[in-house]
Amino acid sequence: MDNKLKEKYVQLDKKNIWHPFTQMADWVNDEPSKPLIIDKAKGAYLYDVDGKKYIDGISSLWVNLLGHRNCLIDKAIKVQINKVSHSTFLGLTHVPAIELSEKVLNILPKNIKKIFYSDNGSTAVEIALKMAYQYWQFKKEKRTKILSLKNAYHGDTIGAVSVGGTDLFHAKFKSLLFKSYFAMSPYCYRCNFRTKDIPFPLKVKDFKNHNLQIGCKGECIKQVEEILSKHSKQIAAAIIEPLNQAASGMIIMPKGYLSEYAKLCKKYDVLLICDEVATGFGRTGKMFAVEHENVHPDFICLSKGITGGYLPLAITATTNKIYNTFLGKYEEFKTFFHGHSYTANPLACAAANAVVDILTKDNIFQKINIIIKHLEIELKGLLEHNRIGNIRQCGLMAGIEIIEDKTTGKSYNCRLKIGAKVCTKMREHGIIIRNLGDILVLFLPLIITKREISKITRAIKIELDEL
Ligand SMILES: Cc1ncc(COP(=O)(O)O)c(C=O)c1O
Repeated sequence: MDNKLKEKYVQLDKKNIWHPFTQMADWVNDEPSKPLIIDKAKGAYLYDVDGKKYIDGISSLWVNLLGHRNCLIDKAIKVQINKVSHSTFLGLTHVPAIELSEKVLNILPKNIKKIFYSDNGSTAVEIALKMAYQYWQFKKEKRTKILSLKNAYHGDTIGAVSVGGTDLFHAKFKSLLFKSYFAMSPYCYRCNFRTKDIPFPLKVKDFKNHNLQIGCKGECIKQVEEILSKHSKQIAAAIIEPLNQAASGMIIMPKGYLSEYAKLCKKYDVLLICDEVATGFGRTGKMFAVEHENVHPDFICLSKGITGGYLPLAITATTNKIYNTFLGKYEEFKTFFHGHSYTANPLACAAANAVVDILTKDNIFQKINIIIKHLEIELKGLLEHNRIGNIRQCGLMAGIEIIEDKTTGKSYNCRLKIGAKVCTKMREHGIIIRNLGDILVLFLPLIITKREISKITRAIKIELDEL
């Protein structure tokens, strides 16, 4: 793009737009070459207006799944545009949503029987919370609280924030939120109860024997039981991001934690909500994270990758047990009074149908798991670096925690913005990744190649050497 025109767009952006999760003073005062203006994309690459290409190392904020401009998804949307782009889902239905419901139910755990559509991850969570809350009203039990985990992230709407455990995002809104219980996060690297180093990858086979591996006594899961044993009669549901608390810096749960959490919900008769907004649709190496530990939740929340990262769509999927309690005569008003203008948008459903078709093709997961293994090998190669305190990986998602002092795990002063600076430097290598504080996040599309992964880890090493 011509430099003058580019500068005009940069100035207009800075004059008119307020970007999400962005300190706008920094954004506006950045040097003139920034911000990076994206023009087009193909496969795992984004291209800026000057034609420079970048590996999309965070899948455009965790949504892109099968590459940009995937020909099958493109085609499905174009075909649907020629029919209808949107019609309401209140009192009407359409074929793309009907077909998608069947396809998604076929790949979800077998106890899940009903699909409720909406349009983003936060609303998928809100809906699960509201359904769980209303379910207990029908059962004539006053259950008004939710159990969640510290470091949880379930979105930015007020209900989702109420069950969020990330103080940086949520503390300011405290008096607006409903009260929830929080058990400690299974964040082994920063756990006070740990006495031994953490192996990578962390694959503790039996969570009860956790202490043998890293010298703790599973305090995190004990806290879940403590809360449930005392308060289960007030708790409508327990919510969890299965396997990975992604937005808090890829906090990967030790193997067995998720199934223990699910078992405790069963034991204390509390509904279980698994928020697979980030982990769903293959990112963990299986279709859904719950499959890794054979967990059958009462609700599963899906969004992000569902349309391959093309269009906003979400699903809150649940069981017949929940659905049936909402049935009744019109005048009983047991209806679930919730819906959005763009619920089950037909273009988004068409894209999602194409995504599920691609994912259910033979062998795709075999190929994905070979790539995941390569990522593991590459990350292992970084582990010895004296600026890396801990590396965590779950499938194609990884967190690389930068520290100032490897022996003590001391972090850099946040004013230095080390994580953000490394990410900016990565652009010079043709790579876009994002940081969560000083944790570098990789959230790779399923079509990433071994060469691209190696390029990313090589560039990270070069930039960490510079620190
Ligand atoms: C686990 C999880 N739940 C919910 C959300 C919120 O999704 P959205 O940004 O689409 O509202 C996110 C977003 O990162 C997420 O990671």
